[in-house]
Amino acid sequence: MNPLRLLGRDVAIDLGAASTQIYVKGKGIVLNEPSVVTRSLATGKVVAVGADPAPKGETLTVRPVSGGLPYDGDLTRHMLRHFLKKAHGHPFARPCMVIALPSDPTGIIGDALSNMAYDIEARRVYLVHHGMAAAMGAGLPVKEATGNMVIDIGCDTTRIAVVSCGAVVAARSLPVGGGDVTKALVALVRREHGLVITEAAAEDAKRRKPLEVPAVDPYTGERRTVTISAELVSMATKTPAERIARAAADMVEGLSPDLALDIADRGAVLTGGGSLLRGLGKRLRQELGIPVQRAERPVESVALGLGRCVDDLRRIPGRLVIRP
Ligand SMILES: Nc1ncnc2c1ncn2[C@@H]1O[C@H](COP(=O)(O)OP(=O)(O)OP(=O)(O)O)[C@@H](O)[C@H]1O
Ligand SMILES: [Mg+2]
Repeated sequence: MNPLRLLGRDVAIDLGAASTQIYVKGKGIVLNEPSVVTRSLATGKVVAVGADPAPKGETLTVRPVSGGLPYDGDLTRHMLRHFLKKAHGHPFARPCMVIALPSDPTGIIGDALSNMAYDIEARRVYLVHHGMAAAMGAGLPVKEATGNMVIDIGCDTTRIAVVSCGAVVAARSLPVGGGDVTKALVALVRREHGLVITEAAAEDAKRRKPLEVPAVDPYTGERRTVTISAELVSMATKTPAERIARAAADMVEGLSPDLALDIADRGAVLTGGGSLLRGLGKRLRQELGIPVQRAERPVESVALGLGRCVDDLRRIPGRLVIRP
């Protein structure tokens, strides 16, 4: 057997607040699971990770990732080890890892991510700018001398970037995403209908509407149902969409005239799960006054872009940090 096989194939990891995707070199995306870890309240031990069903007993499920960074380092490492083992099938893999570096990179963020990757047995770590990965995964011509705007709407973060000539020329992230629409929907149901629904129910309603979801009358404790109308979802989307549009417009204003013209012509491409929200693209188009379209595989764009880097480590465009 080739001893190099023990090192395992190289991987790309899109570490998201809502879900983690792993791309294995030459294979494509082999894992897409919720970024969650469940602990037993009695023992404190981790009892389930990702899509694993939580066992019986009192447990607490947490999301260890926020803003593309480990919010809880121990739990994130535990989760990623579990995912990598699953993706690779054997525990001794020491792959090269390509990871997205969230926008507004500082040395600290790059250090935190690469240290984490070395802790989980990376042989070498490559950090690729998140905006570059999203643009590549969305199929934009990132190496051409034209401006490409990509807006990745995640769970708790939206990242806006302009890529041109193989480099990220402007990038910004803002703490708003699909999760804010969900929270706004819970608050609106409480205000408009006087009923309490769970975030899981609101999440469901966002995806399929109009939808009847279980609710509780907070005063009587009576179980009810409530129909979430398209209007309510649209109301919940308003503020997040306005914030994203304002940030994108500010970014265009700060660009050179040539690049700003490119963006006005070519518009912006949306990636991330948040871009699947119905009506959001139209709303952004109206607010920004430029063409806005969704990438072909929006939820997978970042992992696919990182995957293209992992398939050919020598040709990673844009910012790249290697820490052996
Ligand atoms: N079909 C859908 N309709 C509406 N919203 C959706 C749909 N599918 C996913 N979402 C939303 O997409 C968001 C998650 O997107 P994504 O998987 O890109 O996030 P993430 O990469 O894990 O998070 P982040 O990039 O913020 O770290 C959630 O808020 C979810 O509600
Ligand atoms: Mg993401």
